[in-house]
Amino acid sequence: MYNEKVMDAFKNPKNVGEIENADGVGLVGNESCGDIMQIFLKIENDIIIDAKFKTFGCAAAIATSSTATEMVKGMTVKEALELTNKKVVETLGGLPAQKIHCSVLAEEAIKKAIEDYQSKKA
Ligand code: FES
Repeated sequence: MYNEKVMDAFKNPKNVGEIENADGVGLVGNESCGDIMQIFLKIENDIIIDAKFKTFGCAAAIATSSTATEMVKGMTVKEALELTNKKVVETLGGLPAQKIHCSVLAEEAIKKAIEDYQSKKA
């Protein structure tokens, strides 16, 4: 069902955990499957210097959390806001159609964490 890249990201996820005193935290869930994803960002001078996640969900949700947190590290806030679930799925070499919604959680959680950062800053 999953390709090797997805299986590897699921079995050896990167950036699992929490960031203490994170600058932005985003929590999202999917009502139909009940899965939950939380993303923590550390941001300095508008650049994401660290990202971690806690995900209670399926293999695709964990793989996309891992990949998305890897992708946003080093990005500016503006660049990270442009990260779509499609780009995360492409980086993973594709996901089964019925698992695309899992990658949407990663995009939404990052956007929410950035919104949290921006509202704290304002
Ligand atoms: Fe719910 Fe994958 S089945 S996030």
